[in-house]
Amino acid sequence: MADDLYLARGPRTGIRPFAESDRAEFTTAARASRDLHRPWLAPPATDEAYDGYFTRLQEPSRAGFLVCESDGGRIAGYMTINNIVYGAFRSGAVGYGAFAHAAGRGLMSEGLRLLLGHAFGALELHRLEANIQPDNKSSIALVKRAGFRLEGFSPDFLFIEGAWRDHERWAITSEMLTEATSEPPGSR
Ligand SMILES: CC(C)(COP(=O)(O)OP(=O)(O)OC[C@H]1O[C@@H](n2cnc3c(N)ncnc32)[C@H](O)[C@@H]1OP(=O)(O)O)[C@@H](O)C(=O)NCCC(=O)NCCS
Repeated sequence: MADDLYLARGPRTGIRPFAESDRAEFTTAARASRDLHRPWLAPPATDEAYDGYFTRLQEPSRAGFLVCESDGGRIAGYMTINNIVYGAFRSGAVGYGAFAHAAGRGLMSEGLRLLLGHAFGALELHRLEANIQPDNKSSIALVKRAGFRLEGFSPDFLFIEGAWRDHERWAITSEMLTEATSEPPGSR
């Protein structure tokens, strides 16, 4: 991986911003991952959809990151932070999707750890939330592994696939990450 593109790097992955030049690789991977993503997520799978998505990611209330494999740079998945609000809140809402070829290998868990470091570091956020439908076990496992806590349950919270869906509200604050990473190895 070229160091200058990456905002953070771990042993197996790095996170970097989306680029216009990622269009073909991203949309091809999105089309190949439809079975994994449905009914939870519908990332841009055409050139036109990618360009609109890329433009929206440049808004100040959003940030988008590709999780890429250290070995070869292939895009393993992506993560976004939406609804970024500063002031007294300093919070954002994360979204993510693995691509089928990379799922189930721990790459997204590593990518999420890198994202938390970046969000609480360079982006100066204090809290990230992840709003997840109760049946989405892989997504709940991902945020639990990263140290998020369950804050509550919101009925009819987001409009997805033609209906208002109930969501669990998971979140992590910068203090929680600091506490988790300052514990001695093997103490959890
Ligand atoms: C949610 C989603 C991103 C999680 O991705 P994932 O591939 O399961 O996450 P990881 O890459 O961290 O892989 C975790 C798996 O790798 C395993 N693993 C292997 N090595 C690992 C390591 N070093 N660290 C962590 N996990 C590791 C874990 O045990 C886990 O396996 P399991 O699924 O059998 O329990 C993915 O399921 C997805 O894209 N879902 C559809 C879209 C979606 O739901 N988005 C969120 C909407 S709220």
